[in-house]
Amino acid sequence: MRSPGPAPTPPTDIPVELHERRKALSMTHADLIAAATAARERAYAPYSRFKVGAALLTKSGHIYTGCNIENVAFGPSICAERTAMFKAISEGEREFDAIAIVTQNGISPCGTCRQVMIEFAPQMTVIIADTQGNARTTTVDDLLPDGFSPSQLPTVGVQPEDDD
Ligand code: THU
Repeated sequence: MRSPGPAPTPPTDIPVELHERRKALSMTHADLIAAATAARERAYAPYSRFKVGAALLTKSGHIYTGCNIENVAFGPSICAERTAMFKAISEGEREFDAIAIVTQNGISPCGTCRQVMIEFAPQMTVIIADTQGNARTTTVDDLLPDGFSPSQLPTVGVQPEDDD
């Protein structure tokens, strides 16, 4: 039997700002953190022993998860955030609402991951959580102020994709 007392209210249970069409789904930050927490268990991190999980919510309402995957040669290792981003992008996704990142101590994304995220989603919500249930929310733009993004390459820009 549960001991009496107030039920714990997760501070992260706030609806994610979803794309208009998907609002009915009421995906919450807590749902995204839960998906990232599960992904973290799949981390392959025998060298750092630092497990990271990520869960990325697309505007189409799909969640793509990722974990860090290390390599004995170190250089080929990849972060959880980029695993999730690349999984989604390679499935045709281009628009993102939010990403949750879960670690033991609530670290914020590395510079390389920030650069990958700003390419597609400068406005994306970034939920930074730890395994004790603490979380804070920011955006890619706030994490990478004055960042180098596609709009800053006016002479080249993002080329239309080939139709071949
Ligand atoms: N790592 C991530 O997965 N995401 C980050 O934003 C920071 C670092 C991973 C890379 C490596 O496998 C481990 O954490 C220690 O740096």
